[in-house]
Amino acid sequence: MESTDTQITPMPRIGDKAPEFKAVTTQGEINFPADYKGSWVILFSHPADFTPVCTSEFMTFASQEEKFAKANCKLVGLSVDGLYSHIAWLRTIKEKIEYKGMKDVEVKFPLIEDITMDVAKKYGMIQPGESNTKAVRAVFFIDPKGIIRAIIYYPLSLGRNFDELYRALVAMQTADEFSVATPADWQPGDDVIVPTAGSCGVAKDRMENKSDMTCHDWFFCTKPLPKEKVLDKILKK
Ligand code: BEZ
Repeated sequence: MESTDTQITPMPRIGDKAPEFKAVTTQGEINFPADYKGSWVILFSHPADFTPVCTSEFMTFASQEEKFAKANCKLVGLSVDGLYSHIAWLRTIKEKIEYKGMKDVEVKFPLIEDITMDVAKKYGMIQPGESNTKAVRAVFFIDPKGIIRAIIYYPLSLGRNFDELYRALVAMQTADEFSVATPADWQPGDDVIVPTAGSCGVAKDRMENKSDMTCHDWFFCTKPLPKEKVLDKILKK
């Protein structure tokens, strides 16, 4: 029988149900993902409290929390530090740190304490080639049904781009709402990709421009989707 240390927990994948856990956070206990049913949630890890890249990330994410909330998305952070470290770090951020025009930043979303690394291991956030003792910068997008829809990992030295996380969130919701896909660098208001035609006739119509679609070839058709239509569906009033 393998020892616990060498047992391999499979990494969660896109399309899997988000692994369940209960945890203590800076906002009380949470039961994940059950407490978030009906909302999108971004579960993200950072390597350590009181470190510079992580501080810049928390200030940025906390400053954008309302923007994510308007897109029906809650934020949950995690590191393998303890609760008192989390509380002291977040208090320092609020009381002392001024960075890129951000100051007095209050982190209102829950930050999970995970000294045992139980949650981090369940989510494949401990990647020994990078660090045995710290979580990498993982980002899990989980939909209102508790399904993992996207996963992004960054190494310890690389701060995340929160505009890209927001873009990905809005793009996935747009794909769900309008049954389309979104091309490279898509932003609301840009053309979207229409699913490939099921029959030659439909493809021919598209190629002959008999609809609002533009076909670059039979397998690559786009159509306009106005920004207002996207935002109207996705953003809470
Ligand atoms: C940072 O957040 O600055 C950091 C954390 C762990 C390793 C390297 C950098």
